[in-house]
Amino acid sequence: MMNLLKPKYPGNLKVISFKQCDSTNDYLRSHYGDLKIKLPVMVTTGLQTAGRGRDKRTWVSSKGKGLYSSFGFELATDAGLQYLPLIAGITVIETLREICGMDLGLKWPNDILYKGKKIAGILIENVIYGPLMYCITGMGINLNYIPADFPDELKDKATSLKMLTGKTYNPDKINPLLAKTFFNWLENLKNNRHALIISTVNRYGAILKDREIRFHHNKEIITGIYKGINTDGGLLLDTKEDSNGEGANVIYYSGEIV
Ligand code: BTN
Repeated sequence: MMNLLKPKYPGNLKVISFKQCDSTNDYLRSHYGDLKIKLPVMVTTGLQTAGRGRDKRTWVSSKGKGLYSSFGFELATDAGLQYLPLIAGITVIETLREICGMDLGLKWPNDILYKGKKIAGILIENVIYGPLMYCITGMGINLNYIPADFPDELKDKATSLKMLTGKTYNPDKINPLLAKTFFNWLENLKNNRHALIISTVNRYGAILKDREIRFHHNKEIITGIYKGINTDGGLLLDTKEDSNGEGANVIYYSGEIV
């Protein structure tokens, strides 16, 4: 494991730290005008009063219990944006492995799980400004939550690093490593190293390979065998749809494994 005593942020990154804010994603979005010349920017906070998850869900963001951070940066609109959720997931998995030595699993596109329970989530919001995309990549990691901290509906579905290791974690020590890992992977994306991204994602998602999953797509639940992530970042599902009972491989670019 690396020495976390003196973690360093990437040199070109502007870091804005709050004790509290509504949502680090919202801060980046509403301050694009002032931040534009300072990008890339990372916003971190000790707690969020209006933390947001995917699909309009709330993200529980209590003080001292989690890491709540977002990266703001620009990418060309044709720079392979479909790989962004994947590198964000890889970043969290690799950072947490470095911090606590645990191997976590990636559930496409970017939920981070331990034994089926969610330990971290990612919210990516992109805004088009002319030829450029302003990308906001928010990460929430459950560090020090205990079961009693989660609302009832999450008690069976969520976990935290503390629940796995018994230790307490300081987000200020993890944030620099998270930033370093993320911007390294962003360089891979910008340099079109797509095959490396896909093979890494498939390695971290290997636990699902050849298992039957249920998949939520356009208000429909589809059942199929998980075959992995294809070369352009889509989910490959063997839906066994055809009349001969042979598998039919279908690629999905949006949706959620349930
Ligand atoms: C999910 O639903 O899995 C995504 C959760 C993303 C939470 C993070 S915490 C930092 C950033 N700010 C937000 O309001 N949400 C993201």
